[in-house]
Amino acid sequence: MKIHDVLIVGAGLAGMRAALAAPPMLDVAILSKVHPVRSHSVAAQGGINAALGENDSWEAHAFDTAKGGLYLGDQDAIEAMCREAPGEILELERMGVIFSRDERGRIAQRPFGGAGFPRTCYAADRTGHAILHAMYEQILKRHIAVYEEWYVTSLIVEDGVCRGVVAWDVLHGGLHAIGAKAVILATGGSGRVFLTSTNAVINTGDGMALAYRIGAPLEDMEFVQFHPTTLKNTGILITEGARGEGGYLLNTLGERFMKDYAPEQMELATRSTVSLAIGKEILEGRGVDGCVLLDLRHLGRQRIMERLPQIRELAIEFAGVDPIESPIPVRPGAHYQMGGVRTDQWGETEVPGLYAAGECACVSVHGANRLGGNSLLETIVFGRRAGQRASEYVRQVPPRAVSDGTLKTEEARIARLIMNPGPERAWQIRDELGKTLSQNLGIFRTKQSMTHALDCVQALKKRAARVMLQDHGKIFNSDLIHALELDSLLDIAETIAAGGIAREESRGAHYRSDFPNRDDGKWLKHTVAYQTSEGPRLDYAPVTITHFQPK
Ligand code: FUM
Repeated sequence: MKIHDVLIVGAGLAGMRAALAAPPMLDVAILSKVHPVRSHSVAAQGGINAALGENDSWEAHAFDTAKGGLYLGDQDAIEAMCREAPGEILELERMGVIFSRDERGRIAQRPFGGAGFPRTCYAADRTGHAILHAMYEQILKRHIAVYEEWYVTSLIVEDGVCRGVVAWDVLHGGLHAIGAKAVILATGGSGRVFLTSTNAVINTGDGMALAYRIGAPLEDMEFVQFHPTTLKNTGILITEGARGEGGYLLNTLGERFMKDYAPEQMELATRSTVSLAIGKEILEGRGVDGCVLLDLRHLGRQRIMERLPQIRELAIEFAGVDPIESPIPVRPGAHYQMGGVRTDQWGETEVPGLYAAGECACVSVHGANRLGGNSLLETIVFGRRAGQRASEYVRQVPPRAVSDGTLKTEEARIARLIMNPGPERAWQIRDELGKTLSQNLGIFRTKQSMTHALDCVQALKKRAARVMLQDHGKIFNSDLIHALELDSLLDIAETIAAGGIAREESRGAHYRSDFPNRDDGKWLKHTVAYQTSEGPRLDYAPVTITHFQPK
């Protein structure tokens, strides 16, 4: 059996940054269920935050992040992220990332919601694409091994320590145990628990579920961000950069309704504020066919073509609207999981040898509401930190064989699944799950809606045990992968609903119509979910406050 020093699961920005942070003498490998440049980081549009401006500071960035997250973020981690951001941007530039430039030739920065300063660096509206490709070039240059199109079915834990993974080789078929002195999970988010989402179809919460199943808790899972502007019908992201460049939001009366919700920040209030405002306009009958309108016409052709070319393409192709001539119909959509595998500032989980970074982790820097532009930053800063810390750890771990116990268990499980008589189909259950969460755990939630969702998820779990595959072969069996992903989605959905029911307050992305106020006295604390055979067991942990007292 192959035993690596560090094995990274996930080849998006957090995973690749972790790999590049490991010293070249270590045996580092990346494993991903898709080719690295198909990772969801490639879809990030608007930019990455760093206090580069002469009149900006990392302290101001940290304040905006803590306040924007409604003080639920751990401020020591927030400070680390914001302090290290400028250095990381320069490092990305050295790797070859082609950022857009201002008139003086410096890295251009645009305003984003909840930020007191224009500090979002960007490459037009394809920032994730620009960074991911530059970073993949570095992976190739360093000859870092990549298991392309492999799917992890289980982590290997021996004597309470994570020692590798069992993974299915999607292209050739077959399960393999791959040993590692340290495993870093960097598998991204879980947006596909909702029916429509800005997330790629691959974002099924696999890494979170893998960790959860071996006893590493998930933190703050009830906080799911709804991006204010996703395209009508498809839920495709329409970047906040469009509002950063000066776009307006209009209701059916042609009013810039944000004046009634955030008269100073208007369209650049935090995402939870803008999403709730749009939701309210639609609910109260001032929407336009279930949406509101994002108007960019006044920006003019040249600016749209230069700064928002992809948005124009997406609007034309998927909504039949050219934003140079007409407003774009948009509405809030599931976008980002603020929660994830509970880690410290260095990516360490509660299981020795297991690390997590990026959206699958909860460090926690975003609290109850993430600021736009802080997710790319999180992947880069905490991906690097996890890579560094795991590299230090593996130097103390003596070489040791890994038993084939987990491999045998997984072989039996997959064999059962492939021959399961049914009659359920994974896609049907996934569809019902998505509808249930979208209808009951969206931007407005109540005890009744969330309890209904939890009951449905638990019933769907029972049905998922009877999933039947139509493809019984080994080669590129996507039927099998979808069935495995379904189990991840169901585990994640259960933690979102359970955490949401328990948290009897409204804070950021968790808005309860039955508890509309924030309650710091009772709820300024993290939710921590452990898996049990009866469902999630919830515990709570304090929030780290350093300089910014909750207001
Ligand atoms: O709107 C956007 O471009 C998304 C950015 C983000 O989620 O950070």
